[in-house]
Amino acid sequence: MKPEILSVAPMYAPCMERLARELTLHRLFDAPDADALLAQVGPRVRGIQATGFASVPAAMIDALPKLEIVSVFGVGYDGVDVAAARRRNVVVTNTPDVLNDCVADLALGLVIATSRRLCAGDRYVRAGKWFAGPMPLASRVAGKRLGILGLGRIGRTIAKRASGFDMTIAYHSRHPVRGVPFRYCATPVELAESSDFLVVITPGGAATKHLVNEAVMRALGPAGILVNVARGSVVDEQALVRCLQEGVLGGAGLDVFEDEPRVPEALFAMDNVVLQPHVGSATHETRRAMGDLAVDNLLAHFAGRPVLTPVP
Ligand code: NAP
Ligand code: 8YV
Repeated sequence: MKPEILSVAPMYAPCMERLARELTLHRLFDAPDADALLAQVGPRVRGIQATGFASVPAAMIDALPKLEIVSVFGVGYDGVDVAAARRRNVVVTNTPDVLNDCVADLALGLVIATSRRLCAGDRYVRAGKWFAGPMPLASRVAGKRLGILGLGRIGRTIAKRASGFDMTIAYHSRHPVRGVPFRYCATPVELAESSDFLVVITPGGAATKHLVNEAVMRALGPAGILVNVARGSVVDEQALVRCLQEGVLGGAGLDVFEDEPRVPEALFAMDNVVLQPHVGSATHETRRAMGDLAVDNLLAHFAGRPVLTPVP
């Protein structure tokens, strides 16, 4: 008998197919009656497959008496109540490292798109405005100061790319990172004060909620650009809208939002803002690598081997 798994949110389709071949898969996310499905299969479910932003609350963990593992398709696992999982001896896994390159690419893409006004330029050409004259000038990227909030796996990959643009790099995290040539700033405000671009790439969750508050945005200043590829919760979104409206912050490139997929409508009209629908890791190559790792973690566990990437 194959172990029974509950999928609470879909992942890369070919990997879902692999999961369905290897294990008995119940798709909670598109079940016509989720409660009925849970009542029917819940007593037999031994694993959950989730995503970086899907919610796996304590109530769900506690409602599955045979649960052994939660496999997250994503490096962020702030949607999973890890404390509740620990209490029940349930293993939680995520998909670190395999997405570093794509998320870092998007972060640099947002830095460039916002500073060089790529999306505004595209709209300018399409609207025929070029006939009336050239686009207003934009702002240089190369050689500027980049602040990285969260110098972890992805943060360091962003730094590698920014070094290629001759940028001066500084960072803040709770602990200084040994062996990196970048300046450590003791607070997010200090980092923002010494940055032209501030890229946010910490985990989400309670510990980082609104780490980027109005004081940080004001410290970044009217020419400064905020890029968030972490979680919407890390940036105070109301303060962000206010700072952009008042011109105390220069611009923003945003891949994540506090209440996805809802995005504050005030941002839609702002030409100095570039918006993305949480696509940091959204390439075929990376989503396949993430999906394979998520499946491999489940298969290792059910084969009695250690999982490959347990969360710390
Ligand atoms: P990581 O290697 O664990 O790095 C996280 C960094 O954040 C570390 O430098 C950590 O340093 C710092 N940090 C943690 N808590 C902090 C706090 N309270 N204050 C300041 N710094 C803090 O994680 P990663 O693999 O780079 O991934 C980072 C996050 O990116 C994920 O958790 C996820 O939320 C997000 N992400 C988004 C996308 C997307 O599609 N947009 C894709 C992938 C990942 P200290 O421990 O020293 O503080
Ligand atoms: C994914 C992410 O978009 O890894 C993360 O933490 O946010 C992203 O890579 C997500 O996990 C896919 O649902």
